[in-house]
Amino acid sequence: MRLRLRVNGEAREAEDVWEGESLLYVLRERLELPGSKNACEQGECGSCSVYLDGSLVCSCLVLAGQAEGREVVTVEGISEGDGLHPVQEAFVEAGAVQCGFCTPGFVVATHDLLRRVPEPGDAEVREALAGNLCRCTGYEKILAAVRLAARRMAK
Ligand code: FES
Ligand code: FES
Repeated sequence: MRLRLRVNGEAREAEDVWEGESLLYVLRERLELPGSKNACEQGECGSCSVYLDGSLVCSCLVLAGQAEGREVVTVEGISEGDGLHPVQEAFVEAGAVQCGFCTPGFVVATHDLLRRVPEPGDAEVREALAGNLCRCTGYEKILAAVRLAARRMAK
């Protein structure tokens, strides 16, 4: 089937999409947006997090056909112009990135949290990021990155 959707503000099309294909596969392999990572493909790790019509979803759990005509924003799409988004900057500056495999998912989930709750407490941050797994950082630097981003965005 042919899939038509909007991705990061642009109308995009993909040809010959199989009905069982995931949105994650379409983004990475057909639309050349490798930011969303494919780690578990079972909705367990959050590495593939994107917005679908403004809601945070695991794109590995969304069938390509379900995204027909809808609006997707990926980690590539939340940056501002050529610069990084404050959440992306905070992850770099706080050293919250090691192998980086989980980072796009954490960045999108943090972006979602801070647009809903500009000054979250630690418990709210932990709750919001509970669906995102990291094998490297021990999470402390990730929490520091979220606090840093929240402080900067509140200014
Ligand atoms: S790859 Fe989608 S949740 Fe892990
Ligand atoms: S930085 Fe490696 S999985 Fe999180």
